[in-house]
Amino acid sequence: MTTTITFTPNALLSEIADIGRDPVRGGYSRPVFSPPEQKLNQWFIEKAASLGLDVEQDRNGILWAWWDTPSKERTNAIGTGSHLDSVPGGGNFDGPLGVASALSAVAALKNEGFEPSRPIAILVFPEEEGSRFGLACLSSRLATGAATPEKVRTLTDPEGITYAEAAEAAGFDHSSIGADKEGLARLAQFVELHIEQGKGLIDLDKPVAIAGTILGHGRWHARITGTGDHAGTTRMQDRHDPMLVGAHIISAVREEGQSVKQARATVGRFEVTPGGTNVIASQVDLWIDVRHRDDETTKAIVERITQRAQQLAEAEGCKIRIDEESFSPTVHFDSKLREAMKSVLASAPVLDTGAGHDAGILSTHIPTGMLFVRNPTGTSHSPAEFAEAEDVDTGALRLADVLRHLSL
Ligand code: GLV
Ligand code: MN
Ligand code: MN
Repeated sequence: MTTTITFTPNALLSEIADIGRDPVRGGYSRPVFSPPEQKLNQWFIEKAASLGLDVEQDRNGILWAWWDTPSKERTNAIGTGSHLDSVPGGGNFDGPLGVASALSAVAALKNEGFEPSRPIAILVFPEEEGSRFGLACLSSRLATGAATPEKVRTLTDPEGITYAEAAEAAGFDHSSIGADKEGLARLAQFVELHIEQGKGLIDLDKPVAIAGTILGHGRWHARITGTGDHAGTTRMQDRHDPMLVGAHIISAVREEGQSVKQARATVGRFEVTPGGTNVIASQVDLWIDVRHRDDETTKAIVERITQRAQQLAEAEGCKIRIDEESFSPTVHFDSKLREAMKSVLASAPVLDTGAGHDAGILSTHIPTGMLFVRNPTGTSHSPAEFAEAEDVDTGALRLADVLRHLSL
């Protein structure tokens, strides 16, 4: 029997296309514990239930939708899935494509009468983007022990609301968040399908790729403190303006990123206190994202940025502190799993990515792999992120091929 898609990922994505639209930034803003994210979780639970999957939420808020075998034993399972939260003003594909394709692939396998010899679980990971609490892949970091519950509970969002407070407001019991070795040990392998976030597949003229590596990456928070004052009455020579320091740091980040082949260095978030047109700022917070294949090189770039930032702050009579918020070493996805995927997707190229994923965090504990689906704009973390309907269907079918092969 051939595999056909009846529960198409395109139709699934259309169903959620109005959830979490951001009228100010454009695109979607679906932060963890927000009403849109909760609505998306509810949508997922209903869709999974309609396929006969049994949904549970684990201690870290990860949703697991189980396609059990007759024994009902939840061990040696094949995991797939992705996330439903988004960056501010993001697209409808980064995350949801992997969830919709997983639902679609399971539906297609059920439709063809396939009976897996081991359970298949679709996972939805909250706060993959770290858009609200600053720590990307927060739930998989908790589960693997890469982030401690004590630290996570006290993380704050831009409004100063802690993770613990936001969880409580959303009705999520955070009392047992933390390392979940037994939970993860139920998975033998994990495969995440994701929209491609660059132009690799456009250049290769292919719809689907298998992931090779994820660039090592991290986030650093810089807080610059100066002297808040009056824009009209403060003489230029008397100023200690953290805005100026921040502006020069942005240039330094660009220069250091450009000085190393294949490095990426970005300031994408900049907050000014108090933020008045006629007010010299008293404080600036900015976040630096640095990525490179070689982890020592990443650290060396950050070290140079830090030194330059300290000199810039000193020259303006400001104070600065720079703290690491997270660091994820370069991931080399499991080679045996990659070979297994290649054996069923012979024409799919292997591509590296500069974007972080829960599959990367899980790779420290279980064999993981990823599939990428062509994005004709090559743009992501933006409303311009896109995939053609035909490629979306192909991605879900290829994921079904992989799941079938792994669970034969
Ligand atoms: C997540 O998408 C990241 O790469 O920061
Ligand atoms: Mn993602
Ligand atoms: Mn993302």
